[in-house]
Amino acid sequence: MYTTNISVENLHTDMPVPSIPRLDGKGDKQMAEKRPESMERINTPELAKQFIDEQIAALREQIGDTGVLLALSGGVDSSVVAALLIKAVGKQLTCVHVNHGLLRKGEPEQVVKVFRDEMDANLVYVDASERFLEKLKDVEEPERKRKIIGAEFIRVFEEEARKLDGIDFLAQGTIYPDIIESGPVKAHHNVGGLPDDMKFELVEPIKFLFKDEVRVVGKELGLPDNMVFRQPFPGPGLGVRCVGAITRDRLEAVRESDAILREEFANAGLEGKVWQYFTIVPDFKTVGVKNDKRSFEWPVVIRAVNTVDAMTATIEEIPYELLNKIVYRITHEVEGVNRCLYDLTPKPTGTIEWE
Ligand code: XMP
Repeated sequence: MYTTNISVENLHTDMPVPSIPRLDGKGDKQMAEKRPESMERINTPELAKQFIDEQIAALREQIGDTGVLLALSGGVDSSVVAALLIKAVGKQLTCVHVNHGLLRKGEPEQVVKVFRDEMDANLVYVDASERFLEKLKDVEEPERKRKIIGAEFIRVFEEEARKLDGIDFLAQGTIYPDIIESGPVKAHHNVGGLPDDMKFELVEPIKFLFKDEVRVVGKELGLPDNMVFRQPFPGPGLGVRCVGAITRDRLEAVRESDAILREEFANAGLEGKVWQYFTIVPDFKTVGVKNDKRSFEWPVVIRAVNTVDAMTATIEEIPYELLNKIVYRITHEVEGVNRCLYDLTPKPTGTIEWE
């Protein structure tokens, strides 16, 4: 029996190699989960190439001529696993990209473009947005939202998996911090497991890598920079940034304002320098003036934080001129928004996300 926890997009940080906490009765398993001490830190294209070649051989050996399945979120970990498997076993890999309707602007399109069009992968793209939004209708409580999103994700993935024949393996983008993290920041980082009757053998080619190494390998595999150096994005996606009960119009305001923020950060050279930045749209309206008329619309909150381990976080000092430009664009380009705020709260006392 293998555990089949699918992590949509975990929290990973670049940490030095720590010692593994030993769990009672799990000594042997723990040893198998330990990064070999002889393993060099992958920090050059040469070392990445060597790792890729070794993994391709190991994957071919493990998988043979049967099928392997992967939930491809478009995050760096699952993307690197996909690219490795495409090189190793080509069309024996089936990638399933579930669009839960809470992805950022342009994300599903990029996954299709990179993997189906450019890498010629066997990619099943499932637009399940309507299903998720229906399930989330009127749900206000953050943890319930997370549970619904996680459970529905597994259902969609399971349905797709059942349509396929000859799959013996399930690939996952598990990385070393997932194994050594004694306790995640929030218990909900993993979205749950597949039913017991679906038994796959796990394929975890990057399970001994740290995030920085995954990025070096991703670059060597030819993945685009905005995928390789992507900021962390939570599994429940924009769903936890559309505060309270999710409505389509407010979700659209989150997506559009996030796209503006990302574009302006990229133009200002802040992409890859600031740890995480995004927008939030609370579920209340305030009075403003637009086109000489009274408006009653939502505010958009900007959040930009730096951290090493996501346990604490500090606020990025965005240059005032840039901040002004972002505020102008968001209040003038995003429908239903008349105000913009910058959240200056570090963690603690705030968490990074608002929900
Ligand atoms: P908080 O809000 O707890 O966030 O300060 C710390 C980091 O974790 C991410 N985060 C999540 N990631 N599923 C995820 O995969 C989640 O439910 C979730 N909640 C928060 C958050 O984006 C930040 O990087």
